[in-house]
Amino acid sequence: LKKLLALVCCAALTCLAVTGCAGNQEKRTIRIGHNQSTNHPTHIALTAFQDYISGKLGDKYVVEVYPSELLGSQTDMVQLTQTGAIDFCVASNAILETFSKNYEIFNLPYLFASPEAYHHVMDDPEVTGPIYESTKKAGFTAVTWLDAGTRNFYTIDRPIESPADLRGLKIRVQQSPTNIEMMKMLGGSATPMGFGDVYTALQSGIIDGAENNEMALTDNGHGDVCKYYSYDMHQMVPDILIGNNAFMESLSDEDRAVFEEGFKLVNQVEREEWIKAVANAKDRAQNEQNVNFIYPDQKPFVEACLPLHDTVLKNNPTLQPIYDAIQMYNAEYPAETN
Ligand code: GCU
Repeated sequence: LKKLLALVCCAALTCLAVTGCAGNQEKRTIRIGHNQSTNHPTHIALTAFQDYISGKLGDKYVVEVYPSELLGSQTDMVQLTQTGAIDFCVASNAILETFSKNYEIFNLPYLFASPEAYHHVMDDPEVTGPIYESTKKAGFTAVTWLDAGTRNFYTIDRPIESPADLRGLKIRVQQSPTNIEMMKMLGGSATPMGFGDVYTALQSGIIDGAENNEMALTDNGHGDVCKYYSYDMHQMVPDILIGNNAFMESLSDEDRAVFEEGFKLVNQVEREEWIKAVANAKDRAQNEQNVNFIYPDQKPFVEACLPLHDTVLKNNPTLQPIYDAIQMYNAEYPAETN
């Protein structure tokens, strides 16, 4: 049904693109899709972008933001962005690796020593540039990143204290070969699926758990089913705002400059909102959903999946200089020790 809806949406959007813009004959409608709720920092940031463009270029453009997988899963939305049926979407870095192998780098477990190192890396255009531009031939380019926190395992009824506890458990992962490999190395059984299908899969027992940031517990209701959330801190996977190349190349220099400011605003607003949203999610998960937060020794998790760094670098040596630059940030912003 979801596929059919996405198809109908896509046909309607293509139709709108051809016939002009509904009710706004002289204005260009810009469509942005994402898979989060309207409470989520991603949506708040895109709404700020919508307001910004309306304030600066409202005579020429109308921005429409489609939340909650209304336009399909992230993979569907990336495809719509590739063809220009929509102009922008937010996709997890994880699924972008199927469009360009360069994205594998930010999917590596335990890549960043600390959130500070992660933020500095993502803010450095020399590091992100070769990755953001690597999908040019595929029809889209990344324009900014959004913080999606740290990913951790959570399960219905088995607390994860060490990788051994994952054995025999079916854990949902994102549709990314690197994530599937990581899960194998940690001993669990990787079950890839789109984000929107996870709640039902947990509720019906098709999977035993998943891995994500704290917001998935509250905003997506996973904490209603999963009562153990374990801070193994295996990944910091950014979300990426991508734009259709043909649309961006069609902008005049002046308009492009306004859009660039708008992209910066998306990043800034999302990061400010993210800090508040995660604190709030943790509080609600603990006090309203009775989720138990566990703080395991991370060392055995790190040791189990660290060899993945070498495998990825061996298969794609062009990533080595980027990896080395990340290590410099890690040295500058090491993990906090208690
Ligand atoms: C996070 C992330 C999303 C992603 C989701 C997932 O919520 O922000 O971009 O789709 O995880 O696990 O699929």
